[in-house]
Amino acid sequence: MLQPLKRVLGSAGMTWWPASWAMRTEVRAGSSAGAQPGKKQGLQKLSAKLAAGPTLQQFLRAASPPQEPPCELTEGLEEPVPYLVPSTLPEAGRKVYLETYGCQMNVNDTDVAWAILQKNGYLRTKSLEEADVILLVTCSIREKAEQAIWNRLQLLKALKSKRRRTQSPLRIGILGCMAERLKEKILHRERLVDIVAGPDAYRDLPRLLAVAESGQQAANVLLSLDETYADVLPVQTSLNATSAFVSVMRGCDNMCSYCIVPFTRGHERSRPIASILQEVKMLSDQGVKEVTLLGQNVNSFQDTSEVQFCSAAAPSLSRGFSTVYKAKPGGLRFSHLLDQVSRIDPEIRIRFTSSHPKDFPDEVLQLIQERHNICKQLHLPAQSGSTRILQAMRRGYTREAYLELVHHVRDSIPGVSLSSDFIAGFCGETEEDHQQTLSLLREVGYNVGFLFAYSMRQKTQAYHRLQDDVPTEVKHQRLKELISVFREEAARVNGALVGCTQLVLVEGPSKRSASELSGRNDGNTKVIIANRELEDRAAARAQPGDYVLVKITSASSQTLRGVLLRHTTLQESAVYC
Ligand code: 5AD
Ligand code: SF4
Repeated sequence: MLQPLKRVLGSAGMTWWPASWAMRTEVRAGSSAGAQPGKKQGLQKLSAKLAAGPTLQQFLRAASPPQEPPCELTEGLEEPVPYLVPSTLPEAGRKVYLETYGCQMNVNDTDVAWAILQKNGYLRTKSLEEADVILLVTCSIREKAEQAIWNRLQLLKALKSKRRRTQSPLRIGILGCMAERLKEKILHRERLVDIVAGPDAYRDLPRLLAVAESGQQAANVLLSLDETYADVLPVQTSLNATSAFVSVMRGCDNMCSYCIVPFTRGHERSRPIASILQEVKMLSDQGVKEVTLLGQNVNSFQDTSEVQFCSAAAPSLSRGFSTVYKAKPGGLRFSHLLDQVSRIDPEIRIRFTSSHPKDFPDEVLQLIQERHNICKQLHLPAQSGSTRILQAMRRGYTREAYLELVHHVRDSIPGVSLSSDFIAGFCGETEEDHQQTLSLLREVGYNVGFLFAYSMRQKTQAYHRLQDDVPTEVKHQRLKELISVFREEAARVNGALVGCTQLVLVEGPSKRSASELSGRNDGNTKVIIANRELEDRAAARAQPGDYVLVKITSASSQTLRGVLLRHTTLQESAVYC
């Protein structure tokens, strides 16, 4: 599973819509009071076009289920909506403000949505006040994440009503997982929301916004079996210039009993390798130094777009692991993707997230061990240390199988850094189960952890079959204990690096002091290069995007501090310790 944007020491229903069918849009009648007289003529023209809409044939053609077998090559080209072309849209030149909540996948979705809007003539603004359109890219994974959006909408309400009296009307949109989960509720409860677009409907944003301009509410929450936005080159605005996310797959088929993601993001589907390689090459040409391959379960990647690989056998699962779905043979798998991506530029460091522990066959581990530019850092979300709870969560492994995998990973990739996700207070969790989770945390010794209190989500299997019976105070007490043990362990793991030399990719000035540099080591731990060292001329020249060797002088549970030794390259420096 993907991680929230902020690292905290503490993602959605299977409305299985048919594959690549026509977009299903619901348009609600609403007030057109916000429309400005100057725009009236344009809007009338637009309304006429919308009313005319596509022909019945166009809808029937688009609504036919795909005829081709799953492995045949398909055209990835975006087909324009025939009756709306950018030049006819009155929105060209309007300013859009995008706000992202939730995981890295949402960061990437924001870039995709922006790429689509930019192509359609929108401008981007960083100021809420000057925005004509405000879009929130939302998360549903826990109740708290949704509450943040409801609160935000209350603030935007004031902004919108103020706007009506002065400038052009403000349009507000809810995008992503919460849009998918709560479409009706959002449109009814928050009349101020003009558009609702699910994670597979971003191509439809220009049209939805055009409808909103005519004063109506518009929604598209159709989930797709094949949308990967492969041909939409995301405009990377969210990360620093040294690092980029590249989305390689979407959706999830695992159906862990607590998780809403399969319901909001739909079935697993992988982007064709060729388009991924093309994007990484472009990033390399732009000077990006770190690429994170992104998806709900990147390591179950399966590109079936190349017909010659259709009959390949499914790779084996990690020992002692099972899935809720049948083995999926055919296609190019994650080891192939990783191999190809790591060959593009020997000076680009590769990471991937998120992963499920079931999909770590030996060929993937071996590749990580062999390649100097694949980070020796794995995210192995455990969720619980109790076999009984893991079964209730439908994770497909026992505590013992998970620990065996950890030992196997450590034997295969010496020095590997491990991170994990845990949920405190899942349905039926006893004190004994909780103690087992604490002991697993101690036994493994992760250097990064994402820990959460369980939040019951409608539609999930746990919602239908299990009791959310751990009292809130107990959940929070257990979460506190997990955080405390995790911190102790992370401080110990990081402390072992004091005195070692680490390869660090410089990201920029540190947040606390502009005279310090901040970067990350291979294990993805933050490294601060302190003031004193910057007085050194070589150190002073270190720029974002440089690889430097840093001697670690102190460590906490979250950060390393050190002395800059010299510049280096990724190829020159394997692991220094
Ligand atoms: N309640 C609490 N945490 C959850 N996660 C997923 N669903 C829930 C839920 N209903 C956590 C899992 C997952 C991470 C991204 O969020 O630990 O790996
Ligand atoms: Fe959710 Fe499980 Fe899929 Fe992760 S693997 S997104 S936890 S269903």
